[in-house]
Amino acid sequence: MERSTPGTMAARSWLLLLCFVAVATAGVLQARAQPDSNGFISVDCGLPGKTGFVDDKTKISYAADDGFTDGGACHNISAEYITPGLAKRYHTLRSFPDGKRNCYTLRSLVAGLKYLFRATFFYGNYDSLNKLPVFDLYVGVNYWTMVNITGPGDAVIVEAIVVVPDDFVQVCLVNTGAGTPFISGLDLRPLKNTLYPQSNATQGLVLLGRLNFGPTDYTDVIRYPDDPHDRIWFPWVDSTKWSQISSTKKVQDLDNDMYETPTAVMQTAITPRNASRNIEFSWDPVPLPNDPTPGYIAIFHFSELQLLPGNAVREFYINLNGKPWSLTAFKPEYLYNDATFNRNPFLRYPQYNISINATANSTLPPLINAVEVFSVIPTATIGTDPEDVAAITAIKEKYQVVKNWMGDPCVPKMLAWDKLTCSYAISNPARIIGLNLSSSSLSGEVSSYFGNLKAIQNLDLSNNKLTGPIPDALSQLPSLTFLDLTGNQLSGSIPSGLLKRIQDGSLNLRYGNNPNLCTNGDSCQPAKKKSKLAIYIVIPIVIVLVVVIISVAVLLCCLLRRKKQAMSNSVKPQNETVSNVSSNGGYGHSSSLRLENRRFTYNELEKITNNFQRVLGRGGFGYVYDGFLEDGTQVAVKLRSESSNQGAKEFLAEAQILTRIHHKNLVSMIGYCKDGEYMALVYEYMSKGTLQEHIAGKNNNRIYLTWRERLRIALESAQGLEYLHKACNPPLIHRDVKATNILLNTRLEAKIADFGLSKTFNHVNDTHVSTNTLVGTPGYVDPEYQATMQPTTKSDVYSFGVVLLELITGKPSILREPGPISIIQWARQRLARGNIEGVVDAHMHGDHDVNGVWKAADIALKCTAQTSTQRPTMTDVVAQLQECLELEDRRCGMEDTYNNFYAGNNNDPNSSYNMYNTDQSTDVSQNNTMEHNFERVPTMATGPVAR
Ligand SMILES: *[C@@H]1O[C@H](CO)[C@@H](O)[C@H](O)[C@H]1NC(C)=O
Ligand SMILES: *[C@@H]1O[C@H](CO)[C@@H](O)[C@H](O)[C@H]1NC(C)=O
Ligand SMILES: *[C@@H]1O[C@H](CO)[C@@H](O)[C@H](O)[C@H]1NC(C)=O
Ligand SMILES: *[C@@H]1O[C@H](CO)[C@@H](O)[C@H](O)[C@H]1NC(C)=O
Ligand SMILES: *[C@@H]1O[C@H](CO)[C@@H](O)[C@H](O)[C@H]1NC(C)=O
Repeated sequence: MERSTPGTMAARSWLLLLCFVAVATAGVLQARAQPDSNGFISVDCGLPGKTGFVDDKTKISYAADDGFTDGGACHNISAEYITPGLAKRYHTLRSFPDGKRNCYTLRSLVAGLKYLFRATFFYGNYDSLNKLPVFDLYVGVNYWTMVNITGPGDAVIVEAIVVVPDDFVQVCLVNTGAGTPFISGLDLRPLKNTLYPQSNATQGLVLLGRLNFGPTDYTDVIRYPDDPHDRIWFPWVDSTKWSQISSTKKVQDLDNDMYETPTAVMQTAITPRNASRNIEFSWDPVPLPNDPTPGYIAIFHFSELQLLPGNAVREFYINLNGKPWSLTAFKPEYLYNDATFNRNPFLRYPQYNISINATANSTLPPLINAVEVFSVIPTATIGTDPEDVAAITAIKEKYQVVKNWMGDPCVPKMLAWDKLTCSYAISNPARIIGLNLSSSSLSGEVSSYFGNLKAIQNLDLSNNKLTGPIPDALSQLPSLTFLDLTGNQLSGSIPSGLLKRIQDGSLNLRYGNNPNLCTNGDSCQPAKKKSKLAIYIVIPIVIVLVVVIISVAVLLCCLLRRKKQAMSNSVKPQNETVSNVSSNGGYGHSSSLRLENRRFTYNELEKITNNFQRVLGRGGFGYVYDGFLEDGTQVAVKLRSESSNQGAKEFLAEAQILTRIHHKNLVSMIGYCKDGEYMALVYEYMSKGTLQEHIAGKNNNRIYLTWRERLRIALESAQGLEYLHKACNPPLIHRDVKATNILLNTRLEAKIADFGLSKTFNHVNDTHVSTNTLVGTPGYVDPEYQATMQPTTKSDVYSFGVVLLELITGKPSILREPGPISIIQWARQRLARGNIEGVVDAHMHGDHDVNGVWKAADIALKCTAQTSTQRPTMTDVVAQLQECLELEDRRCGMEDTYNNFYAGNNNDPNSSYNMYNTDQSTDVSQNNTMEHNFERVPTMATGPVAR
């Protein structure tokens, strides 16, 4: 299991390098602030120094806020407000007198997961002005709430439950001109995505109140560790109206409980003091800046705490403003957590009066254990393009730009950074299209990160103290039309790429008043060394391209089968130079490149790659370079390094063989070079990188693949593998099928890459196939192969099943949370409970045919069966996936008939998920609890918002 191919290793170290660069550029802010073992981040704002402390009561570790924010000033609250009961975390705060927006950055989150955010504010007259500020709070780029400090000794606590789009979140305080923003504490708690289903990727919940009815101790606030999610439950007692009842027994969660209300909260409840009366309480809406009467989501928590004698009944109705909330009566279950709630906000009322009354049959008065009330906020706004953010952040750090550069660069529009011009599109992230850093005292070299602002049109760096060469990366910016470098100390020559852009009229370049700049091409000192350095800086920009690595496979198969084609291959004479063919626009047969196999000279490769300028990645046999054929076709050129241990003969023999494996879903080789000691392979360029990047959402600005795209990618990959298994005799086994070995082109067409591990099927006459080294990648390796050391085509089927699960779930093959678990086991457990919703990647926003997803999940689980005989063949898989795609296509033709108010589990009663329950750790839900869940969760179709 440990061994992986050179290719795999290289890809990994490549990623490491990228990570390293990212860390380095993000600067000091990243150094601390890891979540604790619960995933909690707890910040005591304004605590000086770098050392935190452990809270006596909760044993939660609080960190100092150094490293979370780079603005503001620390303060102590004034001594008169420090009372013995005041928790230490309220003693200090950080205030932000400067700048409109100031932010805290919380890192190491998991994109797409749900989190509870809590910010606390205790003014305590820290500034001796006795002036209570009002300001706004944002979570990410979305408005969270207004913070209105109501008294110097009041602790204002605000909370939001939000799905985060990235692996970091900024919580920002925005000065609205009504006093200096400050903050005392900031907490982050991870929640399972199944909790609080009203919060999803586009909608968050903002807490109005969370109350625990009838605790025995009136001051008893319940939070961590009693509540593992560290929600804060405030006591609510009114002994004039209510009697308390309680139990010391554990109150259990139902299976798939959506709220996991802690036992300590559920163990107490209230009933009306006068048994013939109702339980009544109410709340007033809290006006929002743009919504004076917001709608609310309420969650009422119930559990029976008394073991009732046979003839006793406790049954009640819930009424909102005198109208029934649910038409069915509620009968709480003994010692089971249960809840009734609405999915979408109520209609707006000036006041919300809740009355809980017993039914006519009930012999006992009503009861309630706890209530939570939320308003909703939209969280659909997405931030600026992540690549732009990374680039501009690196530029900010490098030149120590001190402007209002805090939070997201472009979003929200009214808080966009100074000196930046952004473009805003409706469904795409904002892009940086202009940057004016003229006369901004920039010094040092021109950062190559300017070359990462891929959408920039105008770049003004004039009148600074910039030195060194002009990076060639700037010529790669497709939209750049205006570049002003006048009035600096730049040296070297103008890169040819830029000159070309000037010549063809696509760029207006100004470079006057740079005394050391050489503008006459011929007399210039070639800045070779410098530009070589630049190559390495440019590396991280480039799309990582995992490149096919040719291997030890001895393939006779396809040779015979494709003999005809091989004969028609046109091999160019070795000495032909580029210059005498480029004049006619190329070789003239590039349209049929995929069936060609061309021999290149080293000289040609130099031209194609512009002297090996841009490194795309590194494989085990050397670097891979970006290049363009004479006709403009982009290619990836892998040059065998001298230190490579792959022999020249094998290299060439394999090149010859592999050019004959042609399928639209296998990355194809365009040609090779054997020129003296130089050897290289030329591949088609796959501009969209690896499938893995798309699943993780790292690529493409958080635009996730749709379900249809995923199905198509799965089908195409399956077809590629089927070809390997079927078209060759003996079959070719890939042996390292995984999401990083599936590459995508501009049209998102999938192709299998990296045949580095491929083996022909163990053939009778073939004694050379070594079967004593296990190869592959952890998380993907067939357990049977692992046990027998005999790879079969079913080993590829197994690995493909893992890839399919990744496509469905958006999760990696090995999940780190909660603890390392294989995606197979993780998905099996959930699917066994019929929980498809908990498995499907939330980034698809439910936009998929449920039956199609079930079917795909079914295929994936069959592919990953323990024993290979139970697995389908790739041919079966192709057929099944085709059906999934048809289901999806049929759905797209129909209107979405889903009822928004559907509140039950998305169980498909026809699917026999229990068959997936092959692994013993799975706890299959009991039928009766499942039913309870249905019975207990009233759908809003019967609630007050029924239309
Ligand atoms: C806050 O109080 C501590 C001691 O209680 C003191 O050491 C520290 O200097 C004070 N900080 C400020 C900013 O006044
Ligand atoms: C803040 O709260 C106070 C007291 O509740 C209220 O009078 C004031 O209008 C609020 N300020 C804003 C801006 O809503
Ligand atoms: C309780 O509420 C239900 C539903 O609103 C109503 O029909 C019924 O009359 C009420 N019963 C009493 C005793 O108040
Ligand atoms: C009351 O009990 C009767 C008989 O057991 C039943 O038919 C009726 O549905 C019950 N009513 C309610 C509101 O539960
Ligand atoms: C989130 O929930 C709201 C309300 O139920 C719904 O309108 C919206 O489409 C959901 N968004 C996603 C991404 O599921």
